[in-house]
Amino acid sequence: MKRIGIVFYSRSGTGRAVAERLAAMTHWPVNEIRDTEPRVGLLGDLRSIVDSLLKRRPPYRYDGPALDTFDHVILIAPVWLRSLAAPMRAFLADRVRGIGTYSVICVMSGYGGFRAVDDIATLTGAKPRSILLLKQYDVLAGESDPSLCRFKAQILTAAGPGDWADPVLPAVD
Ligand SMILES: Cc1cc2nc3c(=O)[nH]c(=O)nc-3n(C[C@H](O)[C@H](O)[C@H](O)COP(=O)(O)O)c2cc1C
Repeated sequence: MKRIGIVFYSRSGTGRAVAERLAAMTHWPVNEIRDTEPRVGLLGDLRSIVDSLLKRRPPYRYDGPALDTFDHVILIAPVWLRSLAAPMRAFLADRVRGIGTYSVICVMSGYGGFRAVDDIATLTGAKPRSILLLKQYDVLAGESDPSLCRFKAQILTAAGPGDWADPVLPAVD
């Protein structure tokens, strides 16, 4: 597996910290999905909740390469209301065509990570090769490096194209 890329969305910095840490360990290129309108403060909270409840696909900005230019994509996103954060959902709904194999890192306060991974599998029509669920507290305390190291090792081991018949590699936590 040669061309591996990281694509992340982060509203408040946890997913960004994970993306930057993983990139520092691996030198894989990092690309960001951004809100066109920043989700700051209470209004930003409310908009995020409504987007999640109504399963809206909010506008976003992405200046990175198409997903089909990677052999393997690492998707990093937060959990919102026990599901995938709306901007990543919108991005995947638009851009998923041509995605090769992929893996997922979800950041969260504590629950709903597997539901968010299910959302991604539904949008992509394929299972992730590897899953890592990280709690915000651990990321911000700088305690996610060992998990990220194991995740990186799994990605490098899981070479080749995947399909629904492949087992999902055990989740790292
Ligand atoms: C609207 C909203 C809903 C959330 N729902 C959940 C949830 O269901 N479960 C959870 O563990 N964390 C939930 N969180 C917390 C975020 O997943 C967590 O703070 C995450 O680390 C944020 O990532 P970010 O800093 O990259 O944006 C929610 C946050 C927001 C803003």
